[in-house]
Amino acid sequence: MIRTFVAALLVVLFAFPQNAGPHSSGAITVDADRPGHAIPANLYGIFFEEISHAGEGGLYAELIQNRGFEDSRLPPMCKLENGFVVPPRTPHFDTGKPNDWRLRWHVASETPAWTLDAAGGTATMRLTDDVPLTEATPNSLVIEVKALAPGRAVAVRNEGFWGINVQEGAQYKLSLYARVEAGFTGPLTARLEGADGRELASAPVAADLTGEWKKFEVTLTAKASDPKARFAVHLASTGTLGLDFVSLFPAKTWRDRPNGLRPDLAQMIADLKPGFVRWPGGCFAEGINVDSRPQWKRSIGRLENRTGTYSPWGYWSSDGFGYHEFLQFSEDLGADALFVVNVGVSCSMRSGTFLEDDALPGLIEDALDAVEYAIGPVSSTWGALRAKHGHPAPFPLKYIEIGNEQRGERYGQRVAMFYKAIKARYPQLKIALSSWIAGVDQRIIDAAGKIDIVDEHAYKALHWGIENFDSFASYKRQGWDLYIGEFATNAGVGRGNVLAMLNDAAYMMSMEKNTDLVKMGSYAPLLENVNDRDWPVNMIHFDSSRVYARATYYANKLFAEHLPTVNLTTTVDYRPAASKPITARVGLATHDTAAEFKDVIVERAGRTLFRSDFASANGWTPEGRRGRWAVEDGAYRQQEQAIAWSFIPETGGADYTVSLKARKLSGREGFIIPIGVADGRRVQWNIGGWGNTRHAVQTADAVVGEQVRGTIAPGRWYDIKIEVKDRTVRGYLDGQLVQEQTLPRIDKVLAISGRDDKTGDIIVKVVNSAPEEAAMTIDVKGGPTPRSGTVTVLRSDDPLDENTFEQPTKIVPKTTPAQLRGRSITQTFEPYSLTILRLKTR
Ligand code: AHR
Repeated sequence: MIRTFVAALLVVLFAFPQNAGPHSSGAITVDADRPGHAIPANLYGIFFEEISHAGEGGLYAELIQNRGFEDSRLPPMCKLENGFVVPPRTPHFDTGKPNDWRLRWHVASETPAWTLDAAGGTATMRLTDDVPLTEATPNSLVIEVKALAPGRAVAVRNEGFWGINVQEGAQYKLSLYARVEAGFTGPLTARLEGADGRELASAPVAADLTGEWKKFEVTLTAKASDPKARFAVHLASTGTLGLDFVSLFPAKTWRDRPNGLRPDLAQMIADLKPGFVRWPGGCFAEGINVDSRPQWKRSIGRLENRTGTYSPWGYWSSDGFGYHEFLQFSEDLGADALFVVNVGVSCSMRSGTFLEDDALPGLIEDALDAVEYAIGPVSSTWGALRAKHGHPAPFPLKYIEIGNEQRGERYGQRVAMFYKAIKARYPQLKIALSSWIAGVDQRIIDAAGKIDIVDEHAYKALHWGIENFDSFASYKRQGWDLYIGEFATNAGVGRGNVLAMLNDAAYMMSMEKNTDLVKMGSYAPLLENVNDRDWPVNMIHFDSSRVYARATYYANKLFAEHLPTVNLTTTVDYRPAASKPITARVGLATHDTAAEFKDVIVERAGRTLFRSDFASANGWTPEGRRGRWAVEDGAYRQQEQAIAWSFIPETGGADYTVSLKARKLSGREGFIIPIGVADGRRVQWNIGGWGNTRHAVQTADAVVGEQVRGTIAPGRWYDIKIEVKDRTVRGYLDGQLVQEQTLPRIDKVLAISGRDDKTGDIIVKVVNSAPEEAAMTIDVKGGPTPRSGTVTVLRSDDPLDENTFEQPTKIVPKTTPAQLRGRSITQTFEPYSLTILRLKTR
């Protein structure tokens, strides 16, 4: 190779075999004479947890962040060490040894979300607990106005939750507590202000301030709109004033409930027609340490008496959306309530701290009180309190879950104690245990002895739902019902896309097909405030004023809208088109790592397609905003510890070999070598990924098959060779075969069907996960002949598409009439699509 020769040599591609046919075909047979399992009407529900500001700054309509001035409190029993919250170092429930888990503390000031604007004079503000409003909200804000310019005021401002959505003509209900500490005479004015400072609404707050805490309520009417508005209190005299519990609600909440919910989000949830509501978690039900666990008795009644709960997701919940509100929401949705009680153990993946066994009778009594609050007669202690809170009739509480994602025998023994006590008093309730993640922990079940429901959590990587269709068929039926309390395809799908939706749909079809076992399921997490995401993939995204639902929301909605009462035997005869090979698209990449590369060669059948000796960077195009690529000393160097990509032109074609040399300079990981494209996704070999511990073949960020342990040492050159044949990738390091993986075929047509006995309709659900159309016939055997029908399709042109704020309805279901010919329908299922056929027989 001559160094002066152009660094990149593109060789004209020669023809290569492409064996893919234009489309696949086959037949789906629905046997209406062979009904299967009955399908519960409440099969699909929702799981609400305070994560990613789902409630606080989300569903709960309160517009003021840190209304009680309590958000700089450390979680109970925790210490602050070097910027981390450190829970007590007492033994972990599972291991018996203290855990070293800690949480970064993001609170930067003692008054989060509040700022002082003293431009109109001289003023200070501080937090104090000298004059508590209530025991639950001991802290308050003290503003001392020392001097004022003529006609001016000083202001304290609240930024809301990443802005307050103020809409022209709308009314906002403000309540706050104020007291004069010294000399302040007013006026005190409440304002809504645009992000640019202009006044959107204004109202005088208090004329009769005294030295005692006094509640003031006013309504603000907006004369203009700003989705990122702020709230301010203006103080127009010198003196010292105390403020506490400053609360602002839109006058319009969902179903006009006071202390209510944000209408757009609540309605979106209602449109899912949930059969049940699981609340309050998840990890939230456990707490970062056992002292931080939610306590329902502190979440009912007067808001000023609610202590709040520190969410394991790193912020305080005011508990304004408390136990009573959860029960009310369930009732308003027409859904059953499923309440998760703490089992005296905190989150296993966090501190795992726990209460000793002698605390259990108290916890069980507390759970029984919760049930009495929800469904006890008004003559009972807690039923009477429910009535006092405005709801004499019982709430639709049907399920109690004991703990969340716990493990082992010891947990099972605790479940047994709760089960016995609750069933003795409330035999009509169904009791669930939470069986860790992915699969069922038999040790818990054996130790529990008796249980009604086992809750499995199922977070799956891309393709799992499709490849493992009907996975529940192999579960042993043991007399309990299975509840999939949290499910989602959430790895290898970015923030979500059509492929995730299809895998979720396939997973739900598995559930629906196995309703002799699976009686309930809820997608998780439900809500994400995009300004503070705690979990990679969530169903409904929102900010202060906007909302959009991911494609998977529409799949969930379709499943709930088209829920049969009984399964029908369904067979699929699918004749797939030939599978597609990996085709060449070669590049170089790093992840939080600086590295250099040289002697890159792409060959096919002995012919060089591309060669680069890096006399220059010709032929290479960096992608993305990060990293710094430059040629130095005959090598292509990525000099920043960053995620960075650079590609050669797409050569295309199957069956080729990529070879190169690579040297790590510094950083956390090794190298990533993008080698091609399959099924619309990037295929790469990640060498020294996951903190430089493992190698893996990946499609996008999803791991294919097994990872291999291995690390990349800095400062030495590695010889890397990657052979790509059809859908198989073989990775060699220094001449040694390290990894071999074949990409699974994801092109399938999956189908289930059922009958809605109320209407006589036959419902067929079909996933086509192939990149090509599937021309199929659907034959209905037995039963009345379908007369007419509809075809509803959920898809997008690109399987990596997702809805966005800008295009919230890019992927939504579209319905057209079905083309029936007697008992047969000819249907072309579009690539990467979910289709629901609803056939009328009456
Ligand atoms: O849904 C997010 C979290 O996932 C839940 O809090 C927990 O139960 C699970 O691990």
